[in-house]
This record gives sequence, C-alpha cells and structure tokens, in this order.
Amino acid sequence: MRIILLGPPGAGKGTQAKTLAEEIRLPHISTGDLLRKNVSLNTDLGKQAQDYMNKGALVPDELVNQMMIDRISQDDAQAGFILDGYPRNLAQAEILDKALVARGKQIDLVIYLDTSEAVVIQRLSGRLVCKKCGANFHSTNMPPKKTGICDNCGGALYQRSDDTEATIRKRLQVYRNECSPLIKYYQEKGKLQRLVADGEARKVLVDIVGLVRKHHDSLKV
Ligand code: AP5
Repeated sequence: MRIILLGPPGAGKGTQAKTLAEEIRLPHISTGDLLRKNVSLNTDLGKQAQDYMNKGALVPDELVNQMMIDRISQDDAQAGFILDGYPRNLAQAEILDKALVARGKQIDLVIYLDTSEAVVIQRLSGRLVCKKCGANFHSTNMPPKKTGICDNCGGALYQRSDDTEATIRKRLQVYRNECSPLIKYYQEKGKLQRLVADGEARKVLVDIVGLVRKHHDSLKV
C-alpha cells in the first residue's frame, strides 16, 4: 500500500508515520529526515538545502523530487511506503504520480491530519528529537523518562534548528499557501481522507490504523 500523510508542520506526521510503519511493516519515508541527513553529512544536496530549511522555505522541487524518486525506487519500497512531508505542492504531487504510473503503481490513500494552528505551535515549540534514532518527544506532551535522553535508544535529544518562533511562522505560511491545491488534487481523485488530529497521539494512531485497514480491505474486495 502506498500512503501519504499530509498536514501542517507539527500535525504529527513524523510521530504517527514512525508507529504506523512498525504496525503495517512498510518503510516510513520522510523528506525532512532525508534532507536533515544530507545536511548533517554535508553532501552537495545538504549544502544546497540547508539555507532554505533554516528559513522555513521549501527546498527547490528539482532537488526534492530526484531525492524522493531515488528513494521510492529502492527495494524496500516496492511493496509500498508511508510518505511524510512529500508531496508538498501540486508540482511535486504530479511528478510523484508520473513516476509511480511509469512503474505501474499509484498512491492508494492520502490521510490529511487536520490540526489547528494553536496546537501545532504548542507542539513544535516543545518538540525534542533523538540525534541517534530520530524518535520524537515533547517537553510536556510526551516527555522522555529521563530528561534529554531518548527512551528507545539512549541517544541525546535536541531541538530542531527550524523550531524557532520565526521559522515556525514562516513554515506555517508556506504550508497555508501550498496546501489547498494539494488537498483539492487528492480530493478530486477520491483518495483523501480527513482526520482531526488535535487529540492525543494514541487516539490519532487508532483512527489512522482504522482508515488504513478499511482501505486495505476495500482493495481486496
Ligand atoms: P519536515 O521535517 O517535513 O517538517 P514539517 O512538515 O514542518 O513537519 P514537522 O516535522 O515539523 O512536523 P510533523 O507533522 O512531522 O510533527 P511531529 O510528528 O514531529 O520539513 C522540514 C523542512 O524541510 C521544510 O521546512 C523544508 O525546508 C524542507 N522540506 C521537507 N519536505 C520538503 C518538500 N517535499 N519539498 C520542499 N522542501 C521540503 O510532531 C511535532 C511535535 O508534537 C513532537 O514533539 C511530538 O512529540 C508532538 N506530537 C505529535 N503528535 C501529538 C499529539 N497527537 N499530541 C500531542 N503531541 C503530539
């Protein structure tokens, strides 16, 4: 199954995609994680992307599209995947569809995590990420058992450099500009499912898994 998680920064795409990936045994593919890895390894792509990311702007489509097409062409993504952070605009959605059609495949389900602005600002300003395994925590919503230490692997937790107030505002503005056409695109294709994601993470996960199971069963009919 090929699934997209859509939603504003802080909607919980990364948090939910990681758990869903374990639950349904498909790879979680996050453009943000891939770009941050390139930045930390100081690759050519990372050097080109860093400035855009720090400003909260989108990295140019041609860089992101190539990175994603390479990623979904890998062996572990042939049975399906969960995309988080991609596509981010209409042009990216069209490129993704074209690449999938060329491989005889398609997106099966797009889940829109509908989240209010006050909630996303609260979530992003307290987010903590593990340097080693990438797990997400939150200083008050989901605190780690030991301050500054990842529950899963013992790695050090850090605050993302784009989780500052000014950059969060810019990311939300970019999202607002780009999201409506994208939502309309998947709505018209009959692939979009909207889910209120302001609630507790476990409850949101149960709702997501419910949608995925329902869709999976309907594919078999
Ligand atoms: P990216 O890494 O994709 O960031 P984003 O879309 O801004 O999304 P976030 O990772 O901030 O939020 P999330 O929805 O994953 O929330 P999370 O689960 O962490 O992109 C970063 C940058 O890379 C972009 O600005 C851009 O420059 C570039 N980029 C990426 N993709 C691109 C593309 N396709 N094209 C061009 N450029 C691109 O949760 C947030 C916090 O809330 C966590 O602390 C978590 O613990 C907590 N939390 C989550 N769910 C709940 C809940 N239900 N209740 C309480 N707390 C919760």
